[in-house]
Amino acid sequence: MLNRAKSIFPLVAIGLCLAASPGRAHQAPPQSAKAEHSLQKTQDPWWKHAVIYEIYPRSFQDSNGDGVGDINGITSRLDYLRDLGIEAIWISPMYPSPLVDFGYDISDYTSIDPLYGTLADFDRLVNEAKKRNIRVIMDFVPNHTSEHHPWFAESHASRTNPKRDWYVWRDGKGPGQPPNNWQSWFGHSAWKFDTTTNQYYYHHFYTEQPDLNWRNPQVRKAMYDAMRFWLDRGVAGFRIDAVSRLFEAPNLHDDPILPGKNAYGDPNIAHKYTDNLPEVHEVLREMRRVVDKYPGNPVLISEADEPNIAELTKMYGSKDDEVQLPMDFQIADVNKLSAPDFRRLLNEIDQNAAGGQPHYFFSNHDQPRQWDRYGDGVHNDQIAKLMAALLLTTRATPLMYYGEEIGMRTTTPVRKEDVQDPIGKIGWPEEKGRDGERTPMQWDASKNAGFSTSQRPWLPVPPSSAENNVKAESQDPNSILSFYKRLLVLRQSEPALRDGSYLPLNRDDPFVLAYLRKKPGSDDAILVVLNMSAESRTVRFDLAANGVRESSARPLIAVPEMGHEATLLVHFTVPAFGVFIGTVH
Ligand code: GLC
Repeated sequence: MLNRAKSIFPLVAIGLCLAASPGRAHQAPPQSAKAEHSLQKTQDPWWKHAVIYEIYPRSFQDSNGDGVGDINGITSRLDYLRDLGIEAIWISPMYPSPLVDFGYDISDYTSIDPLYGTLADFDRLVNEAKKRNIRVIMDFVPNHTSEHHPWFAESHASRTNPKRDWYVWRDGKGPGQPPNNWQSWFGHSAWKFDTTTNQYYYHHFYTEQPDLNWRNPQVRKAMYDAMRFWLDRGVAGFRIDAVSRLFEAPNLHDDPILPGKNAYGDPNIAHKYTDNLPEVHEVLREMRRVVDKYPGNPVLISEADEPNIAELTKMYGSKDDEVQLPMDFQIADVNKLSAPDFRRLLNEIDQNAAGGQPHYFFSNHDQPRQWDRYGDGVHNDQIAKLMAALLLTTRATPLMYYGEEIGMRTTTPVRKEDVQDPIGKIGWPEEKGRDGERTPMQWDASKNAGFSTSQRPWLPVPPSSAENNVKAESQDPNSILSFYKRLLVLRQSEPALRDGSYLPLNRDDPFVLAYLRKKPGSDDAILVVLNMSAESRTVRFDLAANGVRESSARPLIAVPEMGHEATLLVHFTVPAFGVFIGTVH
């Protein structure tokens, strides 16, 4: 969710200018490993192997020239996604919506907003995607509706309306006083007074997004019916929005006040009574039962900005009966190139008590893009490759955000009047909102980077699109895009990388993150070495304890180029921000 990185963490910029160049083409795995790999693939659910790609539909491809992306635009780009190696797309909401929160304020859960197309366009997208072995995952927003949803119109009409209890209504403490001090994530009180019935309603996000009352069984039924509507149309699962916010404590106690103020000028509080209540897990189990009734292993992905790995682990359920892929915000929010921090978190989640599949990402529609968030201002392109290698070589289901593969950067508005995202309007100038990470996809160097023929796309296309675009980068073997493509091919073809265990190496190294991916019961092992510092580093690996007797590693991919020769493990040098992925079998 909105654990927005408040600042970019610059690293000391020293060292060599990196001329990244392609390493050696990867070798084909031996026949036996390949056979074992195909067997494992048929046994495992698809989401254990898939690379998932998030599309922000307003910004991917505009097919009708209105300046906003749409479903037919996405369909027209499916070949690109297939060729990249994407196996599932999660599309941010496209339901009818007044678009206060750009689709996360839904006024009808079983239709498509005309801005994006029709249900027929959606069906065509699902079918065309299927032909290319790409699954479609819907965004599902259970915590709140739009204030324009007919349910809320009814609920708000009178205190005795049958849908009154579908939302969270309470009396104020006294005249002009909300029921308690609970705050919205988007600033100020989470209660809005409604003059029709002289009560307050609760909204965890904008005032235009009233929270549903998940203690009401009719609400649950209506929402599960909506899930079935999309499963019946062939979707492969849901990304569940803001799931830990579903319940509020009935006692209405004030939240504890913390020191300082937030970006909106409110006192900081701990969201103790509105966040992560145990009842959330009851709902996740019910949602899991809904999807499990469908063939093809539909997946649940949760937006789970949990405070620690222990809380994140609970999302899997005690009997693999909740969410298969809770998004790991711990990894996403490291926000600096720190080998010790990544190592600690990767180890913790890899060993999670539920035995759940890790799910990593670095960018999404709520967070400044990784190119600038992890970049040091000098070596950003090389660092973008390092982050790509981290995402695509760890033991996890990786989640990419559109445009990260071409090194798109955050383009934050410079004038308040240009801001689209309401949190930028409320929080300006400290909180400038999320427009910067939602700018149009950069396809080529033509007008509006090939995104739209309109005079004015909904967000501006930055000048960097002249160089950072799909067409230009496809022709450049050293581009970020070419690097992603090579990594994705390698991940597909190397069983150890795709399915192997994760074995951390050199656990005390402050700069170099290194691990083995090893296929159990086979000699297949891949060594990954990521230098997270601005200086060349020489390290020593002793892999005997990991059952590897080899004394050298042969590169499959290395940037900057390290030559084609095997490198001795006892004296292993990796350049500044360098990436080495190689075989040790
Ligand atoms: C989630 C979405 C975010 C949205 C919020 C409220 O955090 O990712 O974009 O604003 O929920 O629905």
